[in-house]
Amino acid sequence: MFSRFKKPDAGPAPTGLKPVTSTGPVAPVAASVPKPVAVIARPGPTPPPPKTPAEALASDKEKKRKDKLMELKVELHKRLLDNLNLSALEKASEANLKQEIASITAEALEEMNVALNAQDRQILHQELYDEVMGLGPLETLLKDETVNDILVNGPKRIFVERAGKLTLTDITFKDERHLLRIIDKIVSAVGRRVDESNPYCDARLADGSRFNCMVPPVAVDGSLVSIRKFKKDKLGIPDLVRFGAFTEEMAAYLQAAVSTRLNIIVSGGTGSGKTTTLNALSSFIDNAERVLTIEDTAELQLQQVHVGRMESRPPNVEGKGAVTQRDCLRNALRMRPDRIIVGETRGEEVIDMLQAMNTGHDGSMTTIHANSARDGISRLENMIAMSGIEMPIKAMRSQISSAVNLIVQASRLQDGSRRMTSITEITGMEGEVISMQEIFRYERLGTESNGKIIGRFNATGIRSAYSDRFRQWGYDLPASIYEPIV
Ligand SMILES: Nc1ncnc2c1ncn2[C@@H]1O[C@H](COP(=O)(O)OP(=O)(O)OP(=O)(O)O)[C@@H](O)[C@H]1O
Ligand SMILES: [Mg+2]
Repeated sequence: MFSRFKKPDAGPAPTGLKPVTSTGPVAPVAASVPKPVAVIARPGPTPPPPKTPAEALASDKEKKRKDKLMELKVELHKRLLDNLNLSALEKASEANLKQEIASITAEALEEMNVALNAQDRQILHQELYDEVMGLGPLETLLKDETVNDILVNGPKRIFVERAGKLTLTDITFKDERHLLRIIDKIVSAVGRRVDESNPYCDARLADGSRFNCMVPPVAVDGSLVSIRKFKKDKLGIPDLVRFGAFTEEMAAYLQAAVSTRLNIIVSGGTGSGKTTTLNALSSFIDNAERVLTIEDTAELQLQQVHVGRMESRPPNVEGKGAVTQRDCLRNALRMRPDRIIVGETRGEEVIDMLQAMNTGHDGSMTTIHANSARDGISRLENMIAMSGIEMPIKAMRSQISSAVNLIVQASRLQDGSRRMTSITEITGMEGEVISMQEIFRYERLGTESNGKIIGRFNATGIRSAYSDRFRQWGYDLPASIYEPIV
């Protein structure tokens, strides 16, 4: 099925797989994109039915049980900290520590004259273990594979994002102090501090997750925390095709674009899947190439052998020691890269990125925060203007149009699904305007009663301006992939 993603010189496709050539037995686009793509079913925003008196009583009981457990946990946590040998903790195995927790807890419960059933006891042990060794209430969510983002709005409101949809959980911190203690644990592990004078911080959790926090008084109703979970198994091109993020034809086109070293920008809104797309696109880079990645928080996981990863660094408490993305980029140019990948271009580094793309580091890629290809260009112009470089608009645009070949738009639709809604080529300048042509787009056809969006991917009918280049490099895409379904 994915034979078209093979390198042209990688020999014949494995048995049973059909290679894509202009004359080969290619399924026409219309055949592989036959009908509207129905997205993953998700329930609409229906209000919960009113509770019966019996249900209300049960939920009241459940709340009381939880409050009691929370109180016990706080008390036991205090006792644990008094009794555990903290310096031995690091060396203790999980089983040993759990045993230790169980015995200290049993003793304390007896002393406090509290009886707990086996299930509550087990919950208590796990929560205490998470408090001592991990990130307290966040630990369960960090372990939950279906959670993408964790968003904390003060101690009592923890939201999670699953499959593109935000929901409130019933997990809480005891109070703001508890939340602050966990925040402190995270930021002190990376040598940072948050307090009234430094109220926010970016960090990376031990498992690689991206973390940001902001504490009161700047955060008005209690500390705000956002965590983008790190996925060990990043979504690859076949996964994204399977999830309906784009079609096989679009993937074949993107493979040609990356392999023939077009400079690509992935544009999209927050959480739209930019980094995921960039990471997946990078899988098309040849193993022989030297790739340097630059990010504010290292999220990319390239599979190539020859990869140098860089992460920018904020200033320390005295305001010194910052290493910006721009610093990394400038240094990267002296490190003989074949390609440079910047996780997200958001500021002054834009000018160095465009220059790198223009001067021999073609095949470079980055993401920007924008809602369409045209909007992406305006963002680039704004970033250049903000970087303090005085440049006439025409020169700016000509610099952009000669540096960037392709803009890929990632979007998170209202129903939570993530789609590549447009692939647009930059073809040059017409007067003062950058000319572009859209090759593929996502067409919305309607909405189901449960909010699910119905749509399909389609070609626009315009042939790629890079067709000759693709062919010369051995990527002979069939003309049918550019034909629209009507
Ligand atoms: N096509 C997809 N299908 C399902 N999940 C996806 C898809 N694309 C991305 N995701 C998931 O969505 C989450 C957000 O993706 P990603 O980090 O790539 O977004 P982003 O646009 O880079 O976000 P940010 O603006 O915060 O940097 C991740 O957990 C990722 O695994
Ligand atoms: Mg990102």
